[in-house]
Amino acid sequence: MQVLYEHGFPVPKPIDQNRHCVVMELIDAFPLRQIDHVEDPGQLYSDLMDLIVRLAQYGLIHCDFNEFNILVGNDGKPILIDFPQMVSTSHPNAEEYFNRDVECIRTFFKRRFQYESVLYPKFRRDTKREFNLDVKVAASGFSSSQQKQLESYMNALAVEDDDESGAYSEEDEQEGSEEEEADEQCHTSEDEEEEDSSQIEDGTAGSSKK
Ligand SMILES: Nc1ncnc2c1ncn2[C@@H]1O[C@H](COP(=O)(O)OP(=O)(O)OP(=O)(O)O)[C@@H](O)[C@H]1O
Ligand SMILES: [Mg+2]
Repeated sequence: MQVLYEHGFPVPKPIDQNRHCVVMELIDAFPLRQIDHVEDPGQLYSDLMDLIVRLAQYGLIHCDFNEFNILVGNDGKPILIDFPQMVSTSHPNAEEYFNRDVECIRTFFKRRFQYESVLYPKFRRDTKREFNLDVKVAASGFSSSQQKQLESYMNALAVEDDDESGAYSEEDEQEGSEEEEADEQCHTSEDEEEEDSSQIEDGTAGSSKK
């Protein structure tokens, strides 16, 4: 969190740390999970996707990027919390984790705000590494001694993938299966899922902050 804060990421200001305790700034905001209405869902969606991509450009994937770990204040801007499970973009399962974070947000926005965009980031296209914060924070899946070997492997993969299509694009044929997969993977309990759908069915979603 300290490193993210120092690099301008929207996270609480860290104050102190001892063993497994972290003292941080108290953010005056609600978790996104508790928010039924936002002024501009498209802007918030875009801010969140930008945040996922920016983290990856710094070599990091949050891995629990969902409505429970995003706080939204009165200004509508997101603050990210809860980092213990963060991994490096060089982790062998990085692509799966990255896509899962993206799909959790897409699924939540569809269900809660009835907002859906054909634009969303793709791991291999949008996560060109520019910084190595994963080394700095020793994120799982990466060590400085492995850096060169893994970078050349990733570069080789990138070359192989050059032929694949780029740009945020519509992938209608794949959307059904991706969404089902995301539903299974997002960290929302069954009870809360039921609460979500009943709110939408009876029209109570989109009213106000709880
Ligand atoms: N800096 C903060 N300011 C305000 N509220 C916070 C802050 N950090 C955490 N919270 C509140 O506490 C809740 C839980 O925090 P967090 O997500 O870090 O822990 P957790 O998910 O319960 O635990 P774990 O890390 O074991 O998964 C958040 O949803 C949020 O409501
Ligand atoms: Mg949490």
